[in-house]
Amino acid sequence: MTPVATQPIVEVTHPLVRHKLGLLRDESTPTQAFRQLVNELTLLLTYEATKDMATEEVEIETPLERTTVQRISGKKVAVCPILRAGIGMLDGVLSLISGARVGFIGLYRNEETLEPVEYYVKLPADIAQRDVLLLDPMLATGRSTGAAVKICKEAGAESVRLIALVAAPEGIEHLQSEHPDVTIVVAAVDRELNDKGYIMPGLGDAGDRLFGTK
Ligand code: URA
Repeated sequence: MTPVATQPIVEVTHPLVRHKLGLLRDESTPTQAFRQLVNELTLLLTYEATKDMATEEVEIETPLERTTVQRISGKKVAVCPILRAGIGMLDGVLSLISGARVGFIGLYRNEETLEPVEYYVKLPADIAQRDVLLLDPMLATGRSTGAAVKICKEAGAESVRLIALVAAPEGIEHLQSEHPDVTIVVAAVDRELNDKGYIMPGLGDAGDRLFGTK
């Protein structure tokens, strides 16, 4: 089997992304603003993650004359948030790709083995015919993200991209070692994981901040 080339990390450095991420990191940003910022950042990252979508030319009539325009022609999209924090990113993708089908992947960590265990998976039946956009705001150890990619591939997906807000180098390394074919689109690659598995400097617990549970 020919080895798969590792996809480069796409770190989006647009000033709007930097600005919004800075607000997101600020511990004084309240839940409502945090949620809105996650939505806006995801929209900007989706723009980048889909920039190589195939298009075709079609002829249309403008009110003035006949002309040729571009239409997206490639595979349709399945957007798959990893529960729970990935849910906060869902609307950002759907506001750009309203026809996408949505799948959900729920994983928890077995505290003895530290391995991710799935507790809920519901994917579009035709996922094999779709490009998957996997949503996980924090690529920390990369274990649950790697498991989620595996779940998508076992369901037939051939093309998976991860959209994350913040990634740790450890998580990138782990994901790339398990799934080198997965493109990772991220707003920032941070310094490291701390001993509790939080990304530093990071933004804290994304799920708690999104849903106000702490
Ligand atoms: N999950 C989070 O929500 N935050 C981190 O820093 C790491 C994992």
